[in-house]
Amino acid sequence: MESKYDIVPGKSTTSKFSLKFKPTPIVFHTKNGPPSPKKIKLSNGKADLLKPSNNSNSNFGIKSKISIQEQKRKLPVFQNRNKLLDLIKRHQTLIILGETGCGKTTQIPQYIYSARIQNNGRIAVTQPRRVAAISIATRVCQELGNGENVGDTVGYMVRFEDKSSKNTKILYLTDGMLLREAIVDNLLKQYTVIILDEAHERTIHTDVLFGIVKKAQKIRDERKLTPLKIIIMSATMDVDHFSKYFECKAVYLEGRAYPVNIFYTKTLQDDYQTACVATFFKIHRQAPPDEDVLIFLTGQEEIDAVVHQIRLLAKDPEVNGPPVRVYPLYASQPSSQQICVFQSVPENTRKVIVSTNIAETSITISGVKHVIDSGMVKVRSYHPTTGLDALKVQKISQEQAWQRTGRAGRVSEGNCYRIYTKFQFECLQKTTVPEIQRCNLSTVVLQLLALKIHAAHFDFMDKPPKDSIASAFEQLKMLGAIEDIDSGKLTELGSQMARFPLDPRFSKILLSAPNYGCLEEALTIIAILSGESIFLNPPAKREQVQALRQKFYSAYGDHIMLLNAFREYTNISQANRRSWCHEHYINIRNITYAHEVRMQLADICMKCQIPTSSCGSNMDQVRKCLVSGLFMNVAELHRDKNYITLDKRQIVSIHPSSCVHGQKPPCILFTEVVQTSKCYLRSLTTISIEWLQEIVPDYVRTRNIKIVD
Ligand code: CDP
Ligand code: MG
Repeated sequence: MESKYDIVPGKSTTSKFSLKFKPTPIVFHTKNGPPSPKKIKLSNGKADLLKPSNNSNSNFGIKSKISIQEQKRKLPVFQNRNKLLDLIKRHQTLIILGETGCGKTTQIPQYIYSARIQNNGRIAVTQPRRVAAISIATRVCQELGNGENVGDTVGYMVRFEDKSSKNTKILYLTDGMLLREAIVDNLLKQYTVIILDEAHERTIHTDVLFGIVKKAQKIRDERKLTPLKIIIMSATMDVDHFSKYFECKAVYLEGRAYPVNIFYTKTLQDDYQTACVATFFKIHRQAPPDEDVLIFLTGQEEIDAVVHQIRLLAKDPEVNGPPVRVYPLYASQPSSQQICVFQSVPENTRKVIVSTNIAETSITISGVKHVIDSGMVKVRSYHPTTGLDALKVQKISQEQAWQRTGRAGRVSEGNCYRIYTKFQFECLQKTTVPEIQRCNLSTVVLQLLALKIHAAHFDFMDKPPKDSIASAFEQLKMLGAIEDIDSGKLTELGSQMARFPLDPRFSKILLSAPNYGCLEEALTIIAILSGESIFLNPPAKREQVQALRQKFYSAYGDHIMLLNAFREYTNISQANRRSWCHEHYINIRNITYAHEVRMQLADICMKCQIPTSSCGSNMDQVRKCLVSGLFMNVAELHRDKNYITLDKRQIVSIHPSSCVHGQKPPCILFTEVVQTSKCYLRSLTTISIEWLQEIVPDYVRTRNIKIVD
């Protein structure tokens, strides 16, 4: 049962960042009667249904003060504990499906552990996101309640952070990390149980792991080694497709989902961000304070802006409503901050979480009664024809819309406000395209080659497009990572590149740095690029920020500007860094993270015996070094107007946030592409086109690039 509502009558004229913005009343058009529960359709031809028994009441929220042990017993999965354990014991491979929040990720590994199914081995549980791996490991450690710390029996391992020890029996790790472990030992012998969680997300790494664990299981059987148990867990997915690929049984854990009223906007919304804020205040003024709100938006910048806006507006005396606590939630957050979303808030206070799609399935927050769905998501997608790997905000799929809706029906009946019309919903794609079919494959192809697997012959569940595989091989050849495309044999350089948890273009830069005497500088730039932006850009303080940042500016572009800022940061004493960041509008979390990443990368460089070096103020050396890995990401000025990429002749523009915007440098190298109405390049370095001839003559020849000055 659905209804339509007005967010703002007619077109929105309110400026996004105006502090004068007042939420406009929303008109609801509710049809009679409560809606029936909307269940995500599941092809359960092969799935056994495990029902929760009636005496369990999962109606608890984080706000109720029941003990952690009691909370565990009330999870729907608890009712099926013995049946599940029996199935896991009997089957070498098993698919477990269940509604988000029913307890799969936190409970099932604990059940396996206490039944000692893992024997002397370890249980690995993969997660697509680092923040989920960290927060869930922390939670499970608490649940075990034996006074241990994370890193003892329960640990986690994510890129650039390892909290595990010899004693770790349940290890939550990102799918990317397990893939890296497979490079060291392709039979993954330290694990006796591998749980591939959130399989429906179909991240590139999970998709590759499907093939790797399947093969490891088979070989371990053939060689009579310790058997490997594989469990695939997921919210909702195409069971037939999965059980055919794994040739195994599937069970479906029925959760307890309450009906959710769905509201669509009556008119098209051209500014979903403002519409989300307006909808929030509509709810805020009417709903009791203990009803939490979850807003789905696309990325850090947008989320930070909305969090700020809600905090400001909530204090406005004209807005009637209880006090609010607003929490941002996105993947790049430090775990300490992310854990806050689970904390209870004071009485008579409204909790609102503003999240990316991370709260769709990876992280469940109890107590949410209202969901506001912007209908948008930020994804990375690659077009082999344009050669560009772009971050793009795009519409979600219907499958995602239902997942988001479901978040409102966890505790009791809830509401979901869709910031799009019914018609727009019907036009959405039914399912999400797996990442492997839309991303640049060069990293994965290189990792597979390090495992001595040629991607063209790999047992993918869904094969990536031939073009994408071909273009990945071509890229690796250009980078000098493989000897030839047919054999895919790694060169010495290629084997070293595979040791870095980085895009091959970035690892090539680090490995080329000794030739330019600038390893220190290259490490800094690559480390910063591996995280989220270190610069804060509050729109209300634009001019002030620009003036302050002047001293970091470089005519050579954004990468050198990052380097300048980081150099100054490291020169500040530890004690003064926080206030320095505050003064300079530098995101302290992100710069601290870059600092940590830099140390890890330096460590790998040391293991690869790359001599350390610094080029001081000779920026030409750094710029040339960047060209050695990113020569495929170069664009030149065309007719004094647009830029054209040299590789595939695409028309692009410089993003207004770049420090060389408006200066029209003749030739630029870029590391980020943002696609909106136009294709924008962000994070650039100006280079001289002749350098290409000097640094990558083969590339210039094969691509027939004309070097004219
Ligand atoms: O994996 P699945 O979606 O089935 O659920 P889960 O992640 O195991 O979560 C089960 C319950 O634990 C949910 O109700 C969460 O709210 C709660 N939880 C929590 O309170 N704190 C965490 N850090 C993680 C989960
Ligand atoms: Mg889960």
